[in-house]
Amino acid sequence: MRVLITGGAGFIGQRTGDLLLKQGHQVTILDNLSPPAHDGPPALPAGMELVEGDIRKREDWVKALKENEVVLHLADHHDYLPSFSKLFHVNTVGTAILFELLLEGKTSVRRVVLGSSMAVYGEGKYRCGKDGDVYPQPRRVDALERGIWDPPCPICGGAITPMVTDESVARPTSAYGLSKLAQEELVRLLGERHGFEWVILRYGAVQGRAQPFQNAYYGALRIFALRLAHDQPPVLLEDGNQLRDFIDVDDVARANVTALAGLPPGAYNVASGRAHTLMDLARILLRVADRDLTPETPGRYRVGDARHAVPDVSRMKAAGWEAQAGLEAMTREYWQWLRSQPNLDTYFEGADHLMERTGTVRVSR
Ligand SMILES: NC(=O)c1ccc[n+]([C@@H]2O[C@H](COP(=O)([O-])OP(=O)(O)OC[C@H]3O[C@@H](n4cnc5c(N)ncnc54)[C@H](O)[C@@H]3O)[C@@H](O)[C@H]2O)c1
Repeated sequence: MRVLITGGAGFIGQRTGDLLLKQGHQVTILDNLSPPAHDGPPALPAGMELVEGDIRKREDWVKALKENEVVLHLADHHDYLPSFSKLFHVNTVGTAILFELLLEGKTSVRRVVLGSSMAVYGEGKYRCGKDGDVYPQPRRVDALERGIWDPPCPICGGAITPMVTDESVARPTSAYGLSKLAQEELVRLLGERHGFEWVILRYGAVQGRAQPFQNAYYGALRIFALRLAHDQPPVLLEDGNQLRDFIDVDDVARANVTALAGLPPGAYNVASGRAHTLMDLARILLRVADRDLTPETPGRYRVGDARHAVPDVSRMKAAGWEAQAGLEAMTREYWQWLRSQPNLDTYFEGADHLMERTGTVRVSR
């Protein structure tokens, strides 16, 4: 295959490009090498052709599309900070330009695979003893301020239990999630209507070595590990009992290649299928790093976060893909990589202070 990866110089893009090259495919990447993903020119795997350009610029897409047959569209803006207009400008305008060019018929592209996120589910699916399956509203800031972490039933207001969330209902609770859903809907509508093959992959929390720790978007493991490297205990948001699905970047790369090679159109959750609390993650890291510290839960919270994110991975399993790496192996790999990195002081707490200053991370009363 001749593959164009947008955002191919990033964390997931590089690992996917690597895998494609090993399998004998041709890889071009379109990337503007922008911060915070990059704080200097990346060392790209040999064999990847880099087109340095911006997905918001039509002429840069034209330079990169050339003879490519499939596009893995990963370039986007992702952030918890209130950069709302940039989220929509990069994520939707970039995708719309791609389809304008496809419709002009001057490219060889037949398939588009979009890298999306669990963030499109917002709070996801729950079960209420009285009202059955429900999809809670975004959690209210006044409840979070009082340290009430669990969302109530949107119908009766009672207690509800988190369930695995399949691909059928998407209700984002953050501007990032909403921008990814808008991007998805463009791919779905324009792909379907104009006869292009399309696939949407919704990734869980992707982990692994070489995850740039200057990028504040990458949450728990980056923050905990940076603190441990400075002999500080992990500080968990909320009460640490939030459920997340952590997936290894190499498993994500295999899922991307599976989708590029030919999954039927649709949205697919790409995750490990195993839920862990943030407290589990902190304890695993403490064990792996051999540190005798106690995780702290001072009641901080991040506006827009979902309480739990537990994806149902049965669609991808039915398509023949399954995650292989476990959380302990992922955590060990990340810790070993981070310990080998220079200048960790540069990144320690910088991103978290910025989130506090902008009111993105707050403390309950
Ligand atoms: N890493 C995760 O945990 C995770 C989880 C869910 C979804 N995703 C999605 O996966 C995709 C890839 O994420 P990642 O973790 O590799 O991110 P990353 O930040 O490491 O890589 C993104 C790349 O896109 C490039 N880019 C940003 N804006 C651009 C623009 N306007 N034009 C051209 N290039 C641009 C950046 O320079 C970077 O190389 C994103 O769409 C993201 O939303 C990631």
